[in-house]
Amino acid sequence: MDSIRVTGGNPLSGRVKAHGAKNAVLKHMVAMLLAPGHYRLDNVPGILDVDIMGEVLDHVGARCARQGTVVEVDVPELLNPEAPLELVRKMRASILILGALLARVGSARVALPGGDDFGSRPIGMHLDGLEQMGAKFELRHGVLEASAPNGLRGTEVFLEFPSVGATENLLLAAVLAKGRSVIGNAAREPELADLASFLNAMGAKVDGAGTSTIEVMGVTSLGPADHTVVADRLEAGTYALAAAATGGDITVEGCDPNFLRMELRKMEAAGCSVERGEDWFSVVGPERPEPLDIATLPFPGFHTDMHPQMVSFLTRAIGTSIVTENVYAARFRYIGELNRMGADIHADGQHVVVRGVDGLSGCEVDGCDIRAAAALTIAGLSADGQTIVREAEHIDRGYDNFVETLHSLGADIDR
Ligand code: UD1
Repeated sequence: MDSIRVTGGNPLSGRVKAHGAKNAVLKHMVAMLLAPGHYRLDNVPGILDVDIMGEVLDHVGARCARQGTVVEVDVPELLNPEAPLELVRKMRASILILGALLARVGSARVALPGGDDFGSRPIGMHLDGLEQMGAKFELRHGVLEASAPNGLRGTEVFLEFPSVGATENLLLAAVLAKGRSVIGNAAREPELADLASFLNAMGAKVDGAGTSTIEVMGVTSLGPADHTVVADRLEAGTYALAAAATGGDITVEGCDPNFLRMELRKMEAAGCSVERGEDWFSVVGPERPEPLDIATLPFPGFHTDMHPQMVSFLTRAIGTSIVTENVYAARFRYIGELNRMGADIHADGQHVVVRGVDGLSGCEVDGCDIRAAAALTIAGLSADGQTIVREAEHIDRGYDNFVETLHSLGADIDR
């Protein structure tokens, strides 16, 4: 198992360019299953999750080849419409092949994902919506068997909660369904708008993605397309917080600051100076942050995937912050690790109370998940002495060249 070793104390300074978004590219790869042919994706991040999605596509019968930031995929006429448990366990986003395969093949077999560190993470909204479009589901021996005996038909679905995955699954199904679909209370994430623009390039008729009402006119067939993946706002925001936590300054290029509107606003409230351009922003961190009150919410609210990194930044605030987690039932494993470094954090239900301390001291901590590992690295950057973040492979799932990038900004860090 790999670890990241970081010695705190160096203020980070310099420029980084955001890679393509993990949470967009994985969906684009699934969307390719909607039509046979040759596809090319550009600005693909060098992360493990892209390889895992490549394995899912391979299993379904497509062939993926990655070279640098380009992924080329050949999708055949005939598909093997299933995702086995070992792949779904590795990556929950595999569940999105349900909508695409139901639309293209009329059936799918997907192992049902269990819970994880974020809570039980059900997929009821995905299934309800697809059922309203004519799909039928049966759970046999832990595998969800889906079929659409009479094809999928367009319909109006109103989501209980703007779930990103449910919106995407329904969108992928609706583009080839018969007639008009409306997804109400849809997720508004920029990655979803990027998926819709890729689908439209494939010949789909999707309107309103990026707003809470998405309208789709089903078409009878789609064709392959090329696409450049939108910037990873979570990667951009993580580097911004890393620099801020060290009292440093950073310019992040290639990412629209509006994708991080709430996160940058909160950083300003904590005492950071922020400058915004069309596709760049810069952040100068304070000596110590002011405390904050934050609630995670679907976009354009504060992103739950920025919560651990923000808490890490707030550990050294002059006062007490409260971060309320509204998206996941549990996302708190990183807290014990930060407390081992001298932080004073207490979780009470959905609320995380962060009492600022004068400083952290480095030690050995467990990475837990992608954002937790990033948060613990951020803590290590400002801590006294050496921090070892174990289970560093979590970082590889979501960050392209994380250690190298922080090193280039002046961090004393290696793998
Ligand atoms: C996506 C992102 C993830 C991010 C999350 C929220 C990818 C690969 N992952 O995950 O990084 O943290 O959005 O921005 O893009 N829920 C239900 N029933 C459902 C569906 C969801 O109760 O049918 C709940 C989930 O358990 C969770 C919440 O809704 O508590 C949000 O989930 P959702 O927006 O669907 O997240 P994902 O698409 O899984």
